[in-house]
Parts: sequence; C-alpha cells; structure tokens
Amino acid sequence: MGTTLDESEGTYEGRPAYHFDNRLGGPVLSHQERWDEMVGTHGGFRSTVARGFWVVTDGPAVQEALQDWRTFSSKSVTALEPDPKFLWIPEMLDPPTHSVWRRLLGRYFSPGTVAAREPEVRRTAAELINALKDRDGAEVLDEFARRFPTLIFMRMMGLPEDDLPTFLAWTRELLHLSHAEDPDGARQLTAMREVSAYFEEQIALRRRTPLDDLLSHAMTWTIDGEPINDRDMHAFCILMFQAGFDTVPISIGWALYHFATHPEQRAEILADPSLIPTGVEEILRVYSFVVPARKATQDVEIGGCPVRAGEMVMLPLAVTNRDPERYENPLEVDLHRKATNHIAFGSGPHRCLGSHLARLELNVAVEEWHRRIPDYRVAAGQELWQHGNMYGIKSLRLEW
Ligand code: HEM
Repeated sequence: MGTTLDESEGTYEGRPAYHFDNRLGGPVLSHQERWDEMVGTHGGFRSTVARGFWVVTDGPAVQEALQDWRTFSSKSVTALEPDPKFLWIPEMLDPPTHSVWRRLLGRYFSPGTVAAREPEVRRTAAELINALKDRDGAEVLDEFARRFPTLIFMRMMGLPEDDLPTFLAWTRELLHLSHAEDPDGARQLTAMREVSAYFEEQIALRRRTPLDDLLSHAMTWTIDGEPINDRDMHAFCILMFQAGFDTVPISIGWALYHFATHPEQRAEILADPSLIPTGVEEILRVYSFVVPARKATQDVEIGGCPVRAGEMVMLPLAVTNRDPERYENPLEVDLHRKATNHIAFGSGPHRCLGSHLARLELNVAVEEWHRRIPDYRVAAGQELWQHGNMYGIKSLRLEW
C-alpha cells in the first residue's frame, strides 16, 4: 500500500500541472509524476484533500474497479464529494436503471449513426479552420477546438446554433475559472443556474411542441414503465453538456500540442495521413486526462488500498494507459503501435457513450487542420494549465 499524500501536495489548484520533459515524450502530470514513480511498486495512496479519498495507481486494479459496479458504485463520481446533491444521468446511475438508459441512447451514438454525420462534421471543421488559416496564429482552443464539437453537439440535441457564444461562455464559467478568478465559486454557481434554466426552458418547449431531435425523442421514452420526468430530463441534459463539451476540445488541444512539439511525427502524418487514426489513439492513451471516481459499497481492498464502505476511490485512467507492463515505451506516442486496448474512454458499464463521435471529431480535426495549416509551432511563453478534475489543457496559442 502506498503513502499518504498530504494536503499541500494534494492541492494543485493554480499550480502548473505539466512539466515539459521531452525525454518522456510529452508533458508529465505533476500528480502523474508521482504515479509514474509508483507504478509497479505501489498500488495506491490516500489523499487527505477534502474528506479524503483513495487514489489507485495500479493499472489492472483501475480497470477492475471500473468494471465492478456492484462494489464501486457511480452514486458519486467526484472524489471530493461522496454525497452529491446533484444527479447526472446516465453517469451517476448504477445498473439496472443505467442499462435501460444506455440501451435507449445507444442508437443515437452507434457507429452507423455517427458515420452518417461525417460530411457535416468535416464541413464544420473545414469552415472553422478556413477562417484561421490566413492569419499567423490563434488561441486554438477558443477559436477552433471548443467551437467545433460544441456546434455538432448542439445540432444533435436540437439546440439553436445562435446560442453557441452563450454555451462557450458557460463552459468557461463552469469549467475553466481559476481560484483567483472565482474564489468563492459564485460565478460558477451563477453559470450553473443559467444552464439549468436554459435546459428547463428547452424541455418545456419540447413538451409543448416536439421536434425531431434527441431531446424530443428522449421525452417519449419510458424507464421502468414510467415516462421520464422533467427532473431526470434535466439531469440528462446537464450530463450531456459536461460530457461532450470539454473532452473533445481538450483532446484536440493535446493533439495539436503534440504535433507542434514533435515535428518529425508531424512530417510523418503529412506524408502519410493514414497514420492519423493510430496517432489519435496514441494521443488519447498517453495524454489520458479523465479521472473517474467511484464510491465503495462495501469494505474492499483494491490495488493494496484498504477501502471502507462509503469511501471514495479515484481511478486515473492514465495509470492503466501508461502501465509499462501493458505497453512498451508507455509514455511515447508511437504512430505505428499495434496495441489498441487503451481505456481513455473508460471501461465497464459507463464506458463513454460518445466514443464513436469523439473519435470521428478528433480524426477529422487532425486531418482537416494539417491539410490547411501543416506548419505551426507553440507560441513562446506558453503555459499549460490543468483545470477541474481532469488533466486538461486550458489554452494553447499556436503560430504559423
Ligand atoms: C475525446 C473525447 C472523450 C473522452 C476522452 C471521453 C471519456 C469518457 C470517459 C472516461 C467516460 C467514463 C466516465 C466514468 O467511468 O465515470 C465517459 C462517459 C461518458 N461520455 Fe465521454 N468522452 C469523450 C467524448 C464524449 C462525447 C463527444 C460525448 C457525447 C456527445 C460523450 C458522452 C459521454 C456520456 C453520456 C458518458 C456517460 C456514460 C455512462 O455513464 O454510461 N463523451 N466519457
């Protein structure tokens, strides 16, 4: 069993979370640096941040816990908050109710449904990049990576495209403010109230006049024989907002960052774009940024950690995805790697519902970008910061 991470070490708000160490093939997470030391020697450690939680640092144990929903419940998925007052659907449901939602949602996110959207996805990416290519640089998260998936998602949910700027502003207020910008969380709370009110209005509109979109369709579903009430529709909208809005931009950010800092690999994908899908998978693997958490339903030992019923367990996907027992040169993005078993989209019943859409968007973003802006670099003085409970990239200024 591992060490105790004390309060000061465990708090990372406001500190740079990445080191630029090219020997390791990319940024190293400050927490991750500790995990890298521990992989192979320790199975986990206890953090004393907030009410305390366990952090599992053993690759197979992380995956095992994600698959064992009976012992590791999704009633809370936030390590800092074992008893949340909010509900996100389907992420915070356990089977069997969870399985009903997944079955109903599955068809909207299936490989076939997603593939049919490819022309629209490609056109949207191309339009946004065309608007940038004749300039000499841009903050690419704001001007491309965030707009692109948000637009696709809004169309899918049937939300008016004119609301894009409002959505981007909410995403910023909800997910990207530093402690200094919002010390008491008041701005975040205001944004959350506005998002809630917005979705309440959209739900009410569709109750009166159904449209041909995912939101309207979901209102006709029944769960355990009952129609979905407004509270659950709302919990579903809030989860979709969070799940779809930040993850793809972060991944596009890491992809552009990676190819900006690895010109030899950029030259390879320019010469042979068929290497892009493997490159995208490798970037998802090496720069894994989602850190799920679960609540133990009984006393259990996982990765050597003696977890008590009711305690929270953090399960960083990067631990499995960078496990040297699982991958040769685990920190290297290898454009020719054959293994395709990363868990950047999670594992078990909650594995990402949007993974096919996310993969399409990422591949299209990388392809269309390099077709138009093949030569670029990270602007001087750039600092990458993590935010929220994901190891995300918050801003990235590129020059070309
Ligand atoms: C590269 C982009 C993405 C990554 C890395 C990612 C990653 C993940 C991960 C790791 C989970 C599991 C969380 C857990 O176990 O607690 C998850 C769940 C989920 N994701 Fe994604 N995601 C991405 C994009 C998307 C997109 C584009 C959508 C939808 C438009 C989406 C919708 C969802 C939903 C609805 C869930 C909850 C599934 C459930 O609880 O059954 N994701 N995602």
